[in-house]
Amino acid sequence: MLGVCYYPEHWPEARWREDARRMRELGLRYVRIGEFAWSRLEPEPGRLDLDWLGRALDTLAAEDLRVVLGTPTATPPKWLVDRYPDVLAVDEAGRVRTFGSRRHYSFSSRRYLEESRRIVTALAERFGRHPALAGWQTDNEYGCHDTVRSYGPEDARAFRAWLERRYGTVAALNEAWGAVFWSMEVRSFDEVDLPNLTVTEPNPARVLDFYRFSSDQVAAFNRAQVDILRVLSPGRFVVHNFMGFFDQFDPYGVAADLDLASWDSYPLGFTDLMPLDDATKARYARSGHPDVAAFHHDLYRGVGRGRFWVMEQQPGPVNWAPHNPSPAPGVVRLWTWEALAHGAEVVSYFRWRQAPFAQEQMHAGLLRPDASDDVGADEARAVARELAGLELPAATPARIALVHDVEAAWIGAIQPQGAEWSVAALEFAFYSTLRALGLDVDVVPAGADLTGYAAVVVPSLPTVSDAALAALRAFPGPLVLGPRSGSKTASFGIPPELPPGRLQELMPVRVTRVESLRPGLEDAFTWEGERFAAGTWREWLEPVGDGGAAAKGRFDDGGGAVWRHREVRYLAFWPGPAFLGRFLAHIAEVAGLEVRALPPDVRLRRRGPWTFAFNHGPEPRRLEPPAGARAVLGGADLPPYGLAIWDASR
Ligand code: GAL
Repeated sequence: MLGVCYYPEHWPEARWREDARRMRELGLRYVRIGEFAWSRLEPEPGRLDLDWLGRALDTLAAEDLRVVLGTPTATPPKWLVDRYPDVLAVDEAGRVRTFGSRRHYSFSSRRYLEESRRIVTALAERFGRHPALAGWQTDNEYGCHDTVRSYGPEDARAFRAWLERRYGTVAALNEAWGAVFWSMEVRSFDEVDLPNLTVTEPNPARVLDFYRFSSDQVAAFNRAQVDILRVLSPGRFVVHNFMGFFDQFDPYGVAADLDLASWDSYPLGFTDLMPLDDATKARYARSGHPDVAAFHHDLYRGVGRGRFWVMEQQPGPVNWAPHNPSPAPGVVRLWTWEALAHGAEVVSYFRWRQAPFAQEQMHAGLLRPDASDDVGADEARAVARELAGLELPAATPARIALVHDVEAAWIGAIQPQGAEWSVAALEFAFYSTLRALGLDVDVVPAGADLTGYAAVVVPSLPTVSDAALAALRAFPGPLVLGPRSGSKTASFGIPPELPPGRLQELMPVRVTRVESLRPGLEDAFTWEGERFAAGTWREWLEPVGDGGAAAKGRFDDGGGAVWRHREVRYLAFWPGPAFLGRFLAHIAEVAGLEVRALPPDVRLRRRGPWTFAFNHGPEPRRLEPPAGARAVLGGADLPPYGLAIWDASR
């Protein structure tokens, strides 16, 4: 269940056998290679040199290692971009992105699509049936370094064609966008430009369509590779490595063409970058926020329709965050087990050996630059030993679903209305609160079948598709709708019936006014006899007719705070941590779920009859084991950054 990312092209060939032997001895089984190697695979236009990669595959195979081969399209070589400058992406400021790092191509470049097909075909023809080949990774981290959206001539051409397919006539486009405002009407699709370099904010409907288009382009680019691999490499899986806290394209759309999902887990880098207060950042600087990796495991398990890997696991300090602390002793082991607890099929460390050259020379590997074992290698070895002889039970669905929607993030970014508004932060707050109550969570896309869940939370869902409405309507249990749900039409307008628009069917209220609040400005409200404060965002609602919606909590000025209609609740404000803790515990109780008061920093996760307990903090913690359970690993006393596993079957 363990693997590693390896770059044979970075090391003398004489070294490969020794590396492969040490990988196997360490307990690794999978090796991902090749994803940045285009300049070595095709040193001159049309002159392929694939033999060295064949020897690398054979060397790994000789140690019984299984290979995931990356397609090298994240790094088009120098000759390619010089020959075909139209492949280069253009940034929002209109500057052509230049050669010299990576991801410098546009997803809409027809030439680049053709070149990608050519190199993928060559690789798949040569290695598609290699006995050591387990599967393929398409490209690498689509969108990394802000590369989903490109603003060049190729992008404008493709955007116009996309709009024509969507709207049919330019009159329909003008109408949908409300383009009469500020005389923004156009007479033909050819007159539509990309939404950058405008004097002040461009029409939000135009931007939303550009974001949708850009997301579709990623899926189409990926599909072109998958189509080739399916034909030339039968029986091998195709995966992509998605990123954390990244919402510029819809991962569900890309994953529809994949066999499983994977993601790249760098908990310390993410924690340093997240919008957390300084004390929280400092507390988790060497272990990562307790929910940061877990959230993404639960997200990408859903993206992969139940199947996911961690393709890149942080093994030591990284190089790319503002601050790059070292994981505390035991934390690499903790992260590895945590991923497995959440259902990961494989955890693969990035990278085998720290490179002493180029951009990532300050990024740790399992081995130091001199090839001696670094701390990460020791901890990976420890997990491999613990795993030996264990058979992990199949992962089971959680009882609570959290609805995740990439359009919610786009709309919030395009029109935040208040500087602190962030759908990612709101989702994370819901998720983290549920996890601190000892609950398992499935992160699901809007429109997913909700049958079987005991409770569903929707942090915010501004646009409501037919599928999303049908799934929510069919769900009989407690359903929580967060602020701004149903607040926009599909073409980024205010619904004619006022928000929550289509959701009025489930929650018969209308939002008559909203306000955003600067930090420090808060309104007090009472819910279930307890006092809370709400800042950041507030809404005023009134019931529609005698539909039966009622305020169950009120602000001091009389406005409803928590609205209820049958099993549906609507929050007319940005919920802070104190309220969310009480409220979600109440929802869990209504749903018949057992809530546990966990010690600080401790999180639980079930996998079949097994319960995993993780201590993400620097102090030892004690946790009563589940009744009648047998210890598989560890015990009731959780050491700092330690874990325990309990088996409750018989
Ligand atoms: C990932 C990327 C890797 C490497 C790594 C460093 O985003 O896929 O190639 O750059 O980060 O942490």
